[in-house]
Amino acid sequence: MAFDQSFLDELAARNDILDVVSRYVQLKRSGSNYFGLCPFHNEKSASFSVSPDKQIFHCFGCGAGGGVVSFIMRAEGLEFPDAVAFLAQQCGLPMPEDKYNPQAGRQRERLLNLMRDAARFYYAELWKPEHKPIQQYFVGRGLRKRVMDNFGLGYAPDSFFATMDAMQAKGYTKEELLRCGLAARSEKGNLYDKFRGRVMFPIIDLRGNVIAFGGRVMDDSKPKYLNSPETSIFHKGRNLFAMNLARKTKREYIILAEGYMDVIALHQAGFDCAVASLGTALTDEQARLIARYAKHVVISYDADQAGQAASQRAIDILKKADLSVKVLKIPGAKDPDEFIREKGADAFRRLVEGSADHNAYRLETIAAKFDLDEDDQRIDFLRQAAQMLATIDNAIEQEIYARRAASMAGINYEAVALEVKRAVAIRRKQQKTAKRRETRTPVQKVQPKIHAMHYPDIVSARAEEGILALIFYDNTFISYFLDKIKPEDFTAPFLRQVFAQANELYGAGHPVTVAAYEAQLDPNELSWLAHIAAQPIPAERERAAEDYIRKIQEQALHRDMQGASEDDPLLARARLKAKK
Ligand code: UTP
Ligand code: MN
Repeated sequence: MAFDQSFLDELAARNDILDVVSRYVQLKRSGSNYFGLCPFHNEKSASFSVSPDKQIFHCFGCGAGGGVVSFIMRAEGLEFPDAVAFLAQQCGLPMPEDKYNPQAGRQRERLLNLMRDAARFYYAELWKPEHKPIQQYFVGRGLRKRVMDNFGLGYAPDSFFATMDAMQAKGYTKEELLRCGLAARSEKGNLYDKFRGRVMFPIIDLRGNVIAFGGRVMDDSKPKYLNSPETSIFHKGRNLFAMNLARKTKREYIILAEGYMDVIALHQAGFDCAVASLGTALTDEQARLIARYAKHVVISYDADQAGQAASQRAIDILKKADLSVKVLKIPGAKDPDEFIREKGADAFRRLVEGSADHNAYRLETIAAKFDLDEDDQRIDFLRQAAQMLATIDNAIEQEIYARRAASMAGINYEAVALEVKRAVAIRRKQQKTAKRRETRTPVQKVQPKIHAMHYPDIVSARAEEGILALIFYDNTFISYFLDKIKPEDFTAPFLRQVFAQANELYGAGHPVTVAAYEAQLDPNELSWLAHIAAQPIPAERERAAEDYIRKIQEQALHRDMQGASEDDPLLARARLKAKK
């Protein structure tokens, strides 16, 4: 997928990185850079920066960085050619069809079309007259036709080849059916339909693409639900079921449930803000996805042990994404779906309104483990409660719940406060040690994290980085360096390659920017390049340039001398003797 460099130059020129990033991140200006909360990791202080001068983004926290195409690759979860197509479309730049290998970019489009056609096929199957019993299954579960249509529910016929046949008749290949997880391969090597005799729930992304399916059996056989595997278009941890609908809600909160049926029942009951994490552990990415649309989350997992344990874990993950979290408890029912069917939508609304703040929920969970009438158990409760209370950053909030813990256990507040103070001190100490451990190893900040990019000579590499930073700042420095230093003089293979390419780009009349490397380097390499380009430029640039060159030459000399002494046979023999 070789794009013409001039086309990529044009694309970069038309998509100013500040404009593009601003659509995703709230940025504030500080000096010549803009800062905001990094969209690629959870943080509370802004370590994500955009430099309009250098046309790069860079996060000091997680290290992510690059040009405008890399930003779109990360933000939209796209491969390079698709991110290029995405930006080209947004600025009305026609894609160079002949220069651009249509395979790579069209592949994704074809798989998405295939999934959409499969969803249509399953839908049509469900409403065939001979499948009345399947329709009855949904009726039996209390679903109305309008809601079923809204979710695009369907039925995969009980056959090993019905889906494959229907899709091949539409021009899709077996290879494509396998690649999007609709077909599986038998041990003998034959392909067959993965979903057979199951009611089908399409998983739809924010742009309305069908990217996966969940299929449920209609009896008690196992597995109850079969889900699409991870594919190039479906990354489980990045999506939430029904987020495409819930993002449009007028409510100020999102309800997070476990299952497909819970979400559908909730939407039918008027809670169009419900999404599901689909039975697996919630990820940081999913939490950030929610945070893009709401500030408040109500966790409404199953009432069983597993559901409650999952709620505890979800609280931490959601808090990290800066969401306010409440936990809803379902009395006398297994899950939201069952509760609504038995008690109605109004009763569920009261549960939402009465749902406990996550602190209260955690306190109650701890209290439930102890018999608070027993003295020794009250002490254990107090210890565990204090540890939990110590994690609350807000002092007022902490006091409120400390008072509550005190009254729950019938202990006076002062005693609880003392225990919390102690737990906070221990926690602070642990955090400090962890932080010290992080900063005590400065070499790690200087060395790239990726082993293959390792710097064999750190002192020289720092100067080599300085040269590249100057070039990115002002391309005309290339002519200055040209007759003074060669790529071979660079000790770090990665930096050598970047420098060599800078010379080529410049020679061919292209701007030398981080963006110009996006087609060749992988995301880690690009992040490191952005890190280099983001370095502050010394005020006396010519002097700095001279210093860098001198440093590289000195280091080379230094290494030569060391190497020579090691090669010296006399010296080597003397060393051997000394060892004995
Ligand atoms: P549940 O069993 O609670 O699902 O699992 P549910 O939606 O309430 O199921 P029914 O239809 O009312 O009986 C919660 C979620 O875990 C995933 C599914 O996403 C399900 O919705 N799951 C469950 C699986 O992926 N595979 C399974 O075998 C079971
Ligand atoms: Mn259920």
